[in-house]
Amino acid sequence: MTEPLNPNPRPVEPAALSLEGKEYSLPVVEGSEGERGIDIGRLRAETGHITLDTGYGNTGSCTSAITFIDGDAGILRYRGIPIEQFVDSPTFIEVAWLLIFGHLPSETEYQDFSEDLTRFAHIDESMKHQFEGFPRSAPPMATLSAMINALSCYHLDLHELEDEAELRHAAARLISKIRTIAAYAFRHSRGLPYVYPDPGLRYVPNLLHMMFSQPYSQYVCPILVRKAFNLILILHADHEQNCSTSTVRMVGSSGANLFASCAAGVSALWGPLHGGANVAVLDMLEQIHQGNVTPEEYVRLAKDKDSNVRLMGFGHRVYKNFDPRAQMLQKVAEELLPQISADDPLLDIARRLEEIALSDPYFVERKLYPNVDFYSGILLRAMGIPTNMFTVIFAIGRLPGWIAHWWEQSQTPGGRIARPRQIYTGNGLTDYLPMERRP
Ligand code: ACO
Repeated sequence: MTEPLNPNPRPVEPAALSLEGKEYSLPVVEGSEGERGIDIGRLRAETGHITLDTGYGNTGSCTSAITFIDGDAGILRYRGIPIEQFVDSPTFIEVAWLLIFGHLPSETEYQDFSEDLTRFAHIDESMKHQFEGFPRSAPPMATLSAMINALSCYHLDLHELEDEAELRHAAARLISKIRTIAAYAFRHSRGLPYVYPDPGLRYVPNLLHMMFSQPYSQYVCPILVRKAFNLILILHADHEQNCSTSTVRMVGSSGANLFASCAAGVSALWGPLHGGANVAVLDMLEQIHQGNVTPEEYVRLAKDKDSNVRLMGFGHRVYKNFDPRAQMLQKVAEELLPQISADDPLLDIARRLEEIALSDPYFVERKLYPNVDFYSGILLRAMGIPTNMFTVIFAIGRLPGWIAHWWEQSQTPGGRIARPRQIYTGNGLTDYLPMERRP
């Protein structure tokens, strides 16, 4: 079942604004799921005022037909398809195609795209030497961002994308090579030889092969791990105007190419309040496991505004009921861990923290629930992924979303460079003082 696409928001009854004795009418638009926005595109020109919305919690930066979230109802849909329907059958590559091109791939499209991914998996040999320029201790997210930017130097022909065929070339290269770069960043950090991509392997087993195979000893990916990993990538694939995607759009709005824009997305994702939270969750659980602090004490600290501590993996700007991705990952963690004999004490600690927080008025009143990062870390750890690669895996998952948004923005008529304004709070007119007259 597909409901008709509504490419443009529908105008509905305008809003009235009363300001300094004057009345203004502001257009109101409605999206395809009934969400409404006041269009303030002419506000400054007509009233001389701007809006102030620190952190953009009330600001719609664009219209978009890619992903729908209803945070109160815990709904997440990619191109209209509920996220729950991706549990069993599709591969990450199908979902990537869906997000980027707007429809599920036909068999031919899927085969052709998969072949492209296999064909483009190698990175230029000279890029390999660039890894040597990073210290062993370099965080893989730093290497990933730098190397995706570096990729743009090898694909000058893909800086300007004219049509979907060119987009497909660029997307296939990025989605394939990010995996190779991620694996090489990991191998470099361990002082291990690089392992070339294996054309006989699918997307996830190939990544794990490049990370974990040793010369003359091939890593074999268990089917359960492949499935769970695939789901993790799918659940991270897009989340509408989150911090990193907004960054990709912001950078892309200046006309920057897809590679440079996605490199900026990686940097935005790195922060602990965004994709870096999956690492912070593990650090928190480890601290508790090592006996440095009890779960009860940790929750108490998270509530104390002077402590600077937050319950990592809890809370979300949009989800105020539950994060459907967290629920799905929790279920997979419960099923997978016993089967791959990784009975992880951190899972028990996570359960305990969740139990305490969900019955505490502080968290209940503020509608703070576990988010996707709360369980993804435990799952990745059970699969043998080292903690410093967690956010890298998130970036691999999020890349199709970034590409889809970058392209959607570039194709939207009337697009402008993203350039917010501010309310200035600094000095009034001040004279320059030569050095000798300064106090
Ligand atoms: N622990 C304790 N208190 C919290 C937490 C938390 N994890 N999250 C929010 N709060 C409190 C805030 O202190 C604030 O309290 P107040 O009203 O008394 O001042 C209230 O809840 C609202 O929080 P905000 O920070 O205003 O919420 P915002 O929407 O700006 O931030 C965020 C959302 C960044 C996710 C926040 O909940 C957080 O820091 N969580 C922990 C980090 C995390 O898990 N990030 C991953 C997000 S998902 C993702 O990026 C994939």
